[in-house]
Amino acid sequence: MSIVPNNAARERLRIAIQKSGRLAEPARALLAACGLSWRESRDKLFCYGETLPIDLLLVRDDDIPGLIADGVCDLGIVGRNELGEQASERERNRVPAAYKELRALGFGSCRLMLAIPEEWEWTGAAVLNGLRIATSYPAILSSWLERNQVQAGVVELSGSVEIAPKLGTADLICDLVSSGATLKANQLKPVESILESEAVLAGPVRDFDDARGELMAMLLRRMDGVLKVKHSQLLMFRAPSASVDALSKLLRDAEPLTRTAASDDGSLDLQTMHHGEVSWNLLEELERAGARNLMVLKVERSLA
Ligand code: PRP
Ligand code: ZN
Repeated sequence: MSIVPNNAARERLRIAIQKSGRLAEPARALLAACGLSWRESRDKLFCYGETLPIDLLLVRDDDIPGLIADGVCDLGIVGRNELGEQASERERNRVPAAYKELRALGFGSCRLMLAIPEEWEWTGAAVLNGLRIATSYPAILSSWLERNQVQAGVVELSGSVEIAPKLGTADLICDLVSSGATLKANQLKPVESILESEAVLAGPVRDFDDARGELMAMLLRRMDGVLKVKHSQLLMFRAPSASVDALSKLLRDAEPLTRTAASDDGSLDLQTMHHGEVSWNLLEELERAGARNLMVLKVERSLA
């Protein structure tokens, strides 16, 4: 690949992300939240890291596992479905694993599902015997069929899988479902989940023995600091010490309250990290239980 500068010393870390598609924007946003920035525009395939020696390669998601396996890229942000398919294929061909899932990233959720024509009745995996299933995930599907002792044909299609039953090239499909709109538009219904997928950070199975090792450790630590508080809010308020027990009981999704200070009138300044959004309802309940000066703050990152 001529677009990749060939700096053999590998003082820099390379991360492959989807160029366009569902994972592209959230992947960039996550890396930016980790303090990375790039000089080039997003039309380029290669983005040179500015703040840190970490470069981006913008590619097709299907290419990401292979790029890591070949050592062209060190890390990748890709759907577990894509990573899993290529890992299953390696396993089925008895080729050793060349990448692993390092972190689940909490976006791009979808499920790989079996879907059948709406008018069919689903009574379990046994009905699949003797049928043909169209999919872009033949290795994951074949392993699932084996585990469930089903003898079915696997028809590999690279795209437009959902139309196969209408065209008669297959009886049913095994495809990614996110909102379910695609299935509905094609008079299909999901019946069995084969894989829960979301975007993951993938990396090599072996540790780096050069500068990339430290870069990767730093990136992972920062990423954890962003992911951990992604859905958290910091809640601060003042309350009489006699109300603290009652208030704590209301805060079911929060860390134990920490006292930050005591004020002149004897009340306490309190704070806690709340997991998930703090609703107006909860604020009003806290107020009724004695809390004052309630304040909810966005948490961007944390370093434990
Ligand atoms: C998937 C899948 C369906 C669609 C389902 O394709 O192949 O076409 O999404 O989504 P829905 O349930 O919200 O309608 P995707 O966009 O991931 O593209 P790709 O698999 O071709 O990369
Ligand atoms: Zn794709």
